[in-house]
Amino acid sequence: MLVNATEMLRKAKAGHYAVGHFNTNNLEWTKAILTTAQEQRSPVIIGVSMGAAKYMGGYKVVAAMVRALDECLGITVPVALHLDHGNYEAAKACLEAGFTSIMFDGSSLPFEENVEKTKELVALAHAKGCSIEAEVGSIGGTEDGITGEGEVADPAECRKIVDLGVDFLAAGIGNIHGIYPKNWKGLRIDVLEKINESTNNIPLVLHGGTGIPDEMIKEAIAHGVSKINVNTDCQLVFAEATIKYCAEGKANPTAENKEKGYDPRKLLKPGYEAIRAKVLEKMQLFGSIGKAE
Ligand code: 13P
Repeated sequence: MLVNATEMLRKAKAGHYAVGHFNTNNLEWTKAILTTAQEQRSPVIIGVSMGAAKYMGGYKVVAAMVRALDECLGITVPVALHLDHGNYEAAKACLEAGFTSIMFDGSSLPFEENVEKTKELVALAHAKGCSIEAEVGSIGGTEDGITGEGEVADPAECRKIVDLGVDFLAAGIGNIHGIYPKNWKGLRIDVLEKINESTNNIPLVLHGGTGIPDEMIKEAIAHGVSKINVNTDCQLVFAEATIKYCAEGKANPTAENKEKGYDPRKLLKPGYEAIRAKVLEKMQLFGSIGKAE
Protein backbone atom coordinates (compact mmCIF):
# COMPACT_ATOMS: atom_id res chain seq x y z
CA MET A 1 0.00 0.00 0.00
CA LEU A 2 1.72 3.16 -1.18
CA VAL A 3 1.60 5.99 1.35
CA ASN A 4 3.71 8.98 2.25
CA ALA A 5 6.24 8.44 5.02
CA THR A 6 4.98 10.93 7.59
CA GLU A 7 2.73 8.73 9.68
CA MET A 8 4.95 5.64 9.65
CA LEU A 9 7.88 7.74 10.87
CA ARG A 10 5.88 9.55 13.55
CA LYS A 11 4.77 6.15 14.84
CA ALA A 12 8.37 4.93 14.75
CA LYS A 13 9.55 7.95 16.73
CA ALA A 14 6.82 7.45 19.33
CA GLY A 15 7.51 3.71 19.48
CA HIS A 16 11.32 4.04 19.70
CA TYR A 17 12.16 2.04 16.57
CA ALA A 18 13.25 2.98 13.05
CA VAL A 19 11.88 2.26 9.59
CA GLY A 20 14.40 1.00 7.04
CA HIS A 21 14.93 3.00 3.85
CA PHE A 22 16.38 0.59 1.30
CA ASN A 23 17.65 1.92 -2.02
CA THR A 24 16.46 0.14 -5.13
CA ASN A 25 18.28 -0.35 -8.42
CA ASN A 26 15.97 -2.56 -10.43
CA LEU A 27 13.00 -4.91 -10.34
CA GLU A 28 14.75 -7.65 -8.32
CA TRP A 29 15.77 -5.16 -5.64
CA THR A 30 12.26 -3.73 -5.44
CA LYS A 31 10.62 -7.16 -5.20
CA ALA A 32 13.08 -8.27 -2.52
CA ILE A 33 12.32 -5.21 -0.38
CA LEU A 34 8.54 -5.37 -0.85
CA THR A 35 8.14 -9.11 -0.21
CA THR A 36 10.31 -9.01 2.91
CA ALA A 37 8.36 -6.07 4.33
CA GLN A 38 5.09 -7.87 3.66
CA GLU A 39 6.23 -11.15 5.25
CA GLN A 40 7.54 -9.31 8.31
CA ARG A 41 4.54 -6.96 8.61
CA SER A 42 6.98 -4.05 8.57
CA PRO A 43 6.52 -0.57 7.13
CA VAL A 44 9.24 0.21 4.60
CA ILE A 45 10.66 3.02 2.48
CA ILE A 46 11.96 2.36 -1.01
CA GLY A 47 14.64 4.92 -1.78
CA VAL A 48 15.61 5.93 -5.31
CA SER A 49 18.63 8.10 -6.04
CA MET A 50 18.74 10.33 -9.12
CA GLY A 51 21.38 8.03 -10.64
CA ALA A 52 19.36 4.86 -10.03
CA ALA A 53 16.25 6.46 -11.53
CA LYS A 54 18.23 7.47 -14.63
CA TYR A 55 19.57 3.91 -14.90
CA MET A 56 16.04 2.49 -14.75
CA GLY A 57 14.75 4.86 -17.45
CA GLY A 58 13.38 7.77 -15.42
CA TYR A 59 11.20 8.67 -12.44
CA LYS A 60 7.99 7.67 -14.22
CA VAL A 61 9.36 4.18 -14.89
CA VAL A 62 10.29 3.76 -11.23
CA ALA A 63 6.92 5.03 -9.99
CA ALA A 64 5.02 2.78 -12.39
CA MET A 65 7.12 -0.27 -11.47
CA VAL A 66 6.81 0.22 -7.72
CA ARG A 67 3.06 0.92 -7.89
CA ALA A 68 2.41 -2.09 -10.11
CA LEU A 69 4.53 -4.45 -8.00
CA ASP A 70 2.84 -3.18 -4.85
CA GLU A 71 -0.55 -4.02 -6.37
CA CYS A 72 0.32 -7.28 -8.14
CA LEU A 73 2.23 -8.72 -5.16
CA GLY A 74 -0.69 -7.84 -2.87
CA ILE A 75 1.40 -5.67 -0.55
CA THR A 76 -0.73 -4.37 2.33
CA VAL A 77 1.96 -2.95 4.64
CA PRO A 78 2.73 0.80 4.33
CA VAL A 79 5.32 1.48 1.60
CA ALA A 80 6.70 4.93 0.79
CA LEU A 81 8.38 5.59 -2.56
CA HIS A 82 11.00 8.19 -1.74
CA LEU A 83 13.50 10.23 -3.76
CA ASP A 84 16.92 9.97 -2.12
CA HIS A 85 19.22 13.05 -2.14
CA GLY A 86 17.30 14.85 -4.84
CA ASN A 87 18.20 18.23 -6.21
CA TYR A 88 15.51 20.87 -6.77
CA GLU A 89 14.62 19.69 -10.31
CA ALA A 90 14.52 16.01 -9.32
CA ALA A 91 12.28 16.77 -6.34
CA LYS A 92 9.76 18.52 -8.58
CA ALA A 93 9.95 15.76 -11.22
CA CYS A 94 9.26 13.07 -8.61
CA LEU A 95 6.20 14.91 -7.29
CA GLU A 96 4.88 14.90 -10.86
CA ALA A 97 5.87 11.27 -11.49
CA GLY A 98 3.85 9.87 -8.57
CA PHE A 99 6.42 9.40 -5.81
CA THR A 100 4.86 9.59 -2.34
CA SER A 101 7.85 11.18 -0.66
CA ILE A 102 10.87 13.27 -1.60
CA MET A 103 14.19 14.26 -0.11
CA PHE A 104 15.47 17.65 -1.11
CA ASP A 105 19.19 17.71 -0.37
CA GLY A 106 20.18 21.36 -0.28
CA SER A 107 23.07 20.71 2.09
CA SER A 108 25.72 21.70 -0.47
CA LEU A 109 24.02 25.08 -1.08
CA PRO A 110 24.54 28.23 0.99
CA PHE A 111 22.23 27.80 4.01
CA GLU A 112 19.84 30.63 2.99
CA GLU A 113 19.35 29.03 -0.44
CA ASN A 114 18.74 25.64 1.20
CA VAL A 115 16.04 27.37 3.32
CA GLU A 116 14.39 29.08 0.33
CA LYS A 117 14.26 25.97 -1.86
CA THR A 118 13.20 23.67 0.99
CA LYS A 119 10.37 26.08 1.84
CA GLU A 120 9.10 26.07 -1.74
CA LEU A 121 9.29 22.27 -2.01
CA VAL A 122 7.52 21.75 1.35
CA ALA A 123 4.50 23.59 -0.08
CA LEU A 124 4.59 21.65 -3.37
CA ALA A 125 5.01 18.26 -1.64
CA HIS A 126 2.25 18.86 0.89
CA ALA A 127 -0.14 20.08 -1.81
CA LYS A 128 0.24 16.64 -3.37
CA GLY A 129 -0.03 14.74 -0.07
CA CYS A 130 3.66 13.78 -0.19
CA SER A 131 6.17 13.86 2.64
CA ILE A 132 9.46 15.73 2.45
CA GLU A 133 12.89 15.19 4.01
CA ALA A 134 15.49 17.95 4.12
CA GLU A 135 19.18 17.88 4.98
CA VAL A 136 21.45 20.02 7.09
CA GLY A 137 25.19 19.30 7.34
CA SER A 138 26.35 16.93 4.66
CA ILE A 139 26.77 13.16 4.72
CA GLY A 140 30.37 12.20 4.01
CA GLY A 141 31.56 9.95 1.21
CA THR A 142 30.18 9.47 -2.29
CA GLU A 143 26.86 8.02 -3.41
CA ASP A 144 25.99 7.85 -7.09
CA GLY A 145 28.60 10.45 -7.93
CA ILE A 146 27.47 12.91 -5.24
CA THR A 147 30.19 13.61 -2.71
CA GLY A 148 29.62 15.18 0.70
CA GLU A 149 32.22 16.61 3.06
CA GLY A 150 30.76 14.92 6.14
CA GLU A 151 30.17 18.19 7.92
CA VAL A 152 28.39 17.95 11.30
CA ALA A 153 25.02 19.73 11.40
CA ASP A 154 24.39 22.83 13.48
CA PRO A 155 21.35 22.24 15.78
CA ALA A 156 20.20 25.87 15.31
CA GLU A 157 20.17 25.46 11.51
CA CYS A 158 18.31 22.15 11.93
CA ARG A 159 15.64 24.01 13.91
CA LYS A 160 15.28 26.64 11.15
CA ILE A 161 14.78 23.97 8.48
CA VAL A 162 12.34 21.97 10.62
CA ASP A 163 10.29 25.12 11.22
CA LEU A 164 9.64 25.27 7.46
CA GLY A 165 7.35 22.28 7.87
CA VAL A 166 9.55 19.40 6.68
CA ASP A 167 8.33 15.99 7.84
CA PHE A 168 11.70 14.45 8.74
CA LEU A 169 15.26 15.67 8.82
CA ALA A 170 18.62 14.23 7.79
CA ALA A 171 21.39 15.78 9.84
CA GLY A 172 25.08 15.05 9.37
CA ILE A 173 26.48 13.54 12.58
CA GLY A 174 29.71 12.04 11.25
CA ASN A 175 27.92 9.44 9.10
CA ILE A 176 29.30 8.46 5.70
CA HIS A 177 27.88 6.83 2.58
CA GLY A 178 29.58 3.60 1.56
CA ILE A 179 32.15 1.65 3.54
CA TYR A 180 33.46 3.41 6.66
CA PRO A 181 37.22 4.01 6.81
CA LYS A 182 39.13 2.07 9.49
CA ASN A 183 39.89 5.26 11.43
CA TRP A 184 36.23 6.40 11.54
CA LYS A 185 35.47 7.96 14.91
CA GLY A 186 31.82 6.90 15.16
CA LEU A 187 28.55 8.84 15.21
CA ARG A 188 28.39 12.13 17.11
CA ILE A 189 25.65 11.03 19.50
CA ASP A 190 26.30 14.23 21.51
CA VAL A 191 25.32 16.32 18.44
CA LEU A 192 22.35 14.03 17.70
CA GLU A 193 21.11 14.64 21.26
CA LYS A 194 21.22 18.42 20.76
CA ILE A 195 19.52 18.20 17.35
CA ASN A 196 16.80 15.98 18.82
CA GLU A 197 16.19 18.48 21.63
CA SER A 198 16.03 21.46 19.28
CA THR A 199 13.79 20.02 16.56
CA ASN A 200 10.39 19.61 18.16
CA ASN A 201 10.24 15.80 18.16
CA ILE A 202 10.53 15.51 14.38
CA PRO A 203 11.68 12.06 13.13
CA LEU A 204 15.42 12.17 12.38
CA VAL A 205 17.10 10.31 9.52
CA LEU A 206 20.39 8.43 9.68
CA HIS A 207 22.05 8.10 6.27
CA GLY A 208 25.03 5.84 5.63
CA GLY A 209 23.43 2.88 7.46
CA THR A 210 25.98 0.38 6.13
CA GLY A 211 28.78 -0.52 8.50
CA ILE A 212 27.63 1.29 11.66
CA PRO A 213 28.00 -1.08 14.64
CA ASP A 214 24.65 -2.44 15.91
CA GLU A 215 25.05 -0.86 19.35
CA MET A 216 25.58 2.57 17.79
CA ILE A 217 22.47 2.09 15.62
CA LYS A 218 20.46 1.31 18.77
CA GLU A 219 21.87 4.37 20.52
CA ALA A 220 20.94 6.55 17.53
CA ILE A 221 17.38 5.18 17.62
CA ALA A 222 17.21 5.90 21.36
CA HIS A 223 18.17 9.52 20.55
CA GLY A 224 15.46 10.19 17.98
CA VAL A 225 16.50 8.46 14.73
CA SER A 226 13.39 6.97 13.10
CA LYS A 227 14.55 6.32 9.51
CA ILE A 228 17.77 4.56 8.58
CA ASN A 229 19.07 4.51 5.01
CA VAL A 230 20.78 1.38 3.71
CA ASN A 231 22.23 1.01 0.23
CA THR A 232 25.80 -0.34 0.13
CA ASP A 233 25.02 -3.35 2.34
CA CYS A 234 22.48 -4.67 -0.19
CA GLN A 235 24.89 -4.01 -3.07
CA LEU A 236 27.63 -5.96 -1.29
CA VAL A 237 25.54 -9.06 -0.54
CA PHE A 238 24.03 -9.02 -4.04
CA ALA A 239 27.50 -8.89 -5.63
CA GLU A 240 28.89 -11.53 -3.27
CA ALA A 241 26.07 -14.01 -3.93
CA THR A 242 26.23 -13.48 -7.71
CA ILE A 243 30.02 -13.86 -7.82
CA LYS A 244 29.78 -17.10 -5.78
CA TYR A 245 27.13 -18.50 -8.13
CA CYS A 246 29.31 -17.75 -11.15
CA ALA A 247 32.49 -19.04 -9.48
CA GLU A 248 30.72 -22.36 -8.90
CA GLY A 249 30.30 -22.62 -12.68
CA LYS A 250 26.52 -22.47 -12.49
CA ALA A 251 26.28 -19.83 -15.24
CA ASN A 252 28.66 -21.61 -17.62
CA PRO A 253 27.45 -21.31 -21.22
CA THR A 254 27.92 -24.97 -22.14
CA ALA A 255 25.61 -27.63 -23.55
CA GLU A 256 26.46 -29.72 -20.46
CA ASN A 257 24.91 -27.08 -18.19
CA LYS A 258 21.54 -28.82 -18.11
CA GLU A 259 20.24 -26.46 -15.41
CA LYS A 260 20.74 -23.55 -17.84
CA GLY A 261 21.97 -21.48 -14.91
CA TYR A 262 22.76 -18.58 -17.24
CA ASP A 263 19.01 -17.92 -17.47
CA PRO A 264 18.77 -14.40 -15.93
CA ARG A 265 16.01 -15.49 -13.58
CA LYS A 266 18.37 -18.13 -12.14
CA LEU A 267 21.47 -15.97 -12.33
CA LEU A 268 19.91 -13.14 -10.33
CA LYS A 269 18.15 -15.36 -7.77
CA PRO A 270 21.00 -15.81 -5.24
CA GLY A 271 21.50 -12.03 -5.18
CA TYR A 272 17.76 -11.50 -4.77
CA GLU A 273 17.66 -13.91 -1.82
CA ALA A 274 20.74 -12.26 -0.31
CA ILE A 275 19.03 -8.85 -0.40
CA ARG A 276 15.93 -10.34 1.25
CA ALA A 277 18.10 -11.76 4.06
CA LYS A 278 19.91 -8.42 4.52
CA VAL A 279 16.64 -6.45 4.59
CA LEU A 280 15.26 -8.87 7.20
CA GLU A 281 18.42 -8.53 9.32
CA LYS A 282 18.14 -4.72 9.22
CA MET A 283 14.42 -4.75 10.05
CA GLN A 284 15.20 -6.92 13.09
CA LEU A 285 17.93 -4.51 14.19
CA PHE A 286 15.80 -1.40 13.61
CA GLY A 287 12.81 -2.92 15.47
CA SER A 288 10.23 -2.39 12.70
CA ILE A 289 8.99 -5.99 12.43
CA GLY A 290 5.28 -6.35 13.15
CA LYS A 291 4.82 -2.57 13.30
CA ALA A 292 2.62 -2.38 10.18
CA GLU A 293 -0.53 -3.17 12.15
P1 13P B 1 24.96 3.37 2.63
O1 13P B 1 25.21 3.15 1.18
O2 13P B 1 26.19 3.69 3.39
O3 13P B 1 24.19 2.24 3.24
O4 13P B 1 24.06 4.69 2.75
C1 13P B 1 22.81 4.72 2.14
C2 13P B 1 22.22 6.07 2.19
O5 13P B 1 22.44 6.83 3.10
C3 13P B 1 21.30 6.46 1.11
O6 13P B 1 20.89 7.76 1.20
